[in-house]
Amino acid sequence: MGKTFDIGLERLAGAGVSVDVPLNETQAPPSKREGGAPGSTFYLETFGCQMNEHDSEKVAGVLLARGYKQVESAESASVILYNTCSIREKAAQKVFSRLGEYRFTQQEGQVIGVLGCVAQQEGEKIFSRAPWVNLVCGSASYRKLPQLLAQLEAGNRRVTGLETDTDETFETEVTRRDNPWRAYLTIIEGCDKACSYCVVPSTRGPERSRTSASILEEVRQLADAGYTEVQLLGQTVNSYADPSARRMRFSELLVAVAEAPGIRRVRFTTSHPRDFGKDIVDAIEAVPAICEHVHLPVQSGSTKVLRAMARTYTREEYLEKIALLRAAKREISLTTDLIVGFPGETEKDFEETLSLLELAQYDGAFCFKYSPRPNTPSLKMDDAIPEEEKSRRLAVLLEKQREIQRARNERLIGQAFEVMVEGKSKKEHQWSGHTSSNKVMNFTSREQESLGDYVHARVTAATPNSLVGEKVESQA
Ligand code: SAH
Ligand code: SF4
Ligand code: F3S
Repeated sequence: MGKTFDIGLERLAGAGVSVDVPLNETQAPPSKREGGAPGSTFYLETFGCQMNEHDSEKVAGVLLARGYKQVESAESASVILYNTCSIREKAAQKVFSRLGEYRFTQQEGQVIGVLGCVAQQEGEKIFSRAPWVNLVCGSASYRKLPQLLAQLEAGNRRVTGLETDTDETFETEVTRRDNPWRAYLTIIEGCDKACSYCVVPSTRGPERSRTSASILEEVRQLADAGYTEVQLLGQTVNSYADPSARRMRFSELLVAVAEAPGIRRVRFTTSHPRDFGKDIVDAIEAVPAICEHVHLPVQSGSTKVLRAMARTYTREEYLEKIALLRAAKREISLTTDLIVGFPGETEKDFEETLSLLELAQYDGAFCFKYSPRPNTPSLKMDDAIPEEEKSRRLAVLLEKQREIQRARNERLIGQAFEVMVEGKSKKEHQWSGHTSSNKVMNFTSREQESLGDYVHARVTAATPNSLVGEKVESQA
């Protein structure tokens, strides 16, 4: 995304998005109304993955439904909430330095709450490290948030929600979505895989799937509310297991979501290679509304390292999954996550990752230096890779992937793609959005486009991270 683009989502967040407040005047008289004192406000800041972002949309909905107003600055808010991430050390450190700042600015009666993965990981230890914190709640306990808020409103100083042994999911009627056209929807929470480097199984608890009926009902409501794109979320989204008697498979669910009237695009992330099968490729091939993009994290190209990571597949098995994708009649774009410098990763292992990049031809890759995390099996593994060597490997990897992306995007010059109009540049006649393959397209149009509309644009130039194009009347 060029820096000059003002995607404008914050500006537009309020436009056309109505918050369905269940406790309105006709249901409960104001005196009996749940919620904070008149004029209560909250400030909510979110770190981490898309699932965390979407959890925050649900958390905001819960607070708005209790009569709180959302504010853009922490200073004057009655409640300050941090939805935190613990995936790598830097992310977790950031939380404590931010909490430290609030020690000095906290006002009388102001509530400070820590949500998300650091909350779950550190639990009550947060109170000893930052005694000014009042609420600590992990994502597996968000269903309890209304009760926890009620306890704080009643004057309790410290409340926690830290259970992960729940089989419940966090669903709410009152989600306050930030984007008026693309709706995120969690279909499976938690993670049952046990990758040796990863905190998620302990910070988000075991896998819990929503029933297909409740997902499809929400999709229908979203379509009625004007959303045209739905993005299904889960740490291992394709491990979805319908808990209802219907036992809908993930690929069937994709098709059913795509068939909801009004839905034009369905995306899903993140897929785990072990549970990725031909049925998903067949669904993408058969149904145009299922976007032609799969995010399939590989982590390493070396079977030895994959085994140490407990990823449950070999290099060859992963390449077979890619072969399924590449055999599809529709061109499916492929992105991945990679970790360099896992304990014991030799130069030869790293070269296998580089050669896998050549074979896989990814359209995008999120590359990370291995970060040792608390309560993970790899924390105790020998043969740590020195920080400088991790940095060197990361730079080599990024450079190689950049060239692959440049070449892959340049191949598209001359072709036209459908783009959802998502932003307007400050430069005149310049717009931007995503293709079905999830590529950013910055395009020229002399017309006054409406955000959220779908147009076609022909690619005129390409960079490693985006396409440049001009609007055309149709794909032809
Ligand atoms: N559930 C997804 C991704 C979860 S976290 C999956 O299985 O693919 C997103 C990415 O962060 C991971 O894919 C991995 O590449 C990276 N990651 C997770 N733990 C990490 C760690 N300890 N150090 C460095 N990167 C890590
Ligand atoms: Fe972490 Fe592995 Fe689960 Fe992904 S699949 S969230 S990397 S444990
Ligand atoms: Fe971070 Fe938790 Fe997501 S650790 S990446 S916020 S699942």
